[in-house]
Amino acid sequence: MFFRRKQKPLPPDALPAHIGIIMDGNGRWAEKRSLPRQVGHRYGARTFRKITKYCEKIGIKCLTVYAFSTENWKRPQSEVDSLMALLKEYLEESLSDFKSENIKTRFIGDISPLSPEIRELIKKAEELTKDKTGLCLNIALNYGGREELTRVARSIAKEVAEGRLSPEDIGEELLQKYLYTAGQPDPDLIIRPSGEYRTSNFLLWQSAYSEYVFTDVLWPDFKPADLDKALREYAKRNRRFGGVK
Ligand code: IPE
Ligand code: IPE
Ligand code: MG
Repeated sequence: MFFRRKQKPLPPDALPAHIGIIMDGNGRWAEKRSLPRQVGHRYGARTFRKITKYCEKIGIKCLTVYAFSTENWKRPQSEVDSLMALLKEYLEESLSDFKSENIKTRFIGDISPLSPEIRELIKKAEELTKDKTGLCLNIALNYGGREELTRVARSIAKEVAEGRLSPEDIGEELLQKYLYTAGQPDPDLIIRPSGEYRTSNFLLWQSAYSEYVFTDVLWPDFKPADLDKALREYAKRNRRFGGVK
């Protein structure tokens, strides 16, 4: 009989401080089962909860999940509506769960086009979890890397026009202060399930030196074991940041 030996956990210093996940493949997961796409989103939301808890358990400091892009409005209205309904459900649930969890939740992206009800729930979730000391969870919602950088450019231009900054003050460090992720480390590892090999406008600035792991697993099927596999792959990478090592 052949037994697979249990893998030893990675030492904490081999873990990425910040993981980004492009939660992709919900629609195909449902279509494969002849189910409506929104069922795939519902299972994807379950995976999201499971993986968030797992990241918290193994001591990941920061997790950014891509939940809805600035381009996802192109989808049929019924799909957008069901995604918003799921988001509302998640927010209501997490507001009741927040006491038992040590997760600090933040939203990145332009939430202004979302319904007032959802914006209010987002505000509450951020407010209630702001002093949590465990996992820092960023949920990218109506997020687009290009939108983020365009917004940064507009904010800085305004500061210059109003005389608070001069063009010479503009450098990488200053620019970073205007990002949605200001003050957080850049993602060390970005995982994209579903067999697509692109970034789809996710964390354009922040991913300059991220390690990517792509997998064919569809997001609703993604398990803690798949995360472990990505972490082991990451631990083998030799990150040089342009230097020699
Ligand atoms: C990701 O799954 C969820 C969102 C983009 C909101 P998809 O809905 O993109 O699933 P596929 O890529 O069609 O399978
Ligand atoms: C990226 O997935 C956005 C999210 C997972 C939220 P998409 O399914 O929207 O990306 P494309 O269209 O395949 O590039
Ligand atoms: Mg997709």
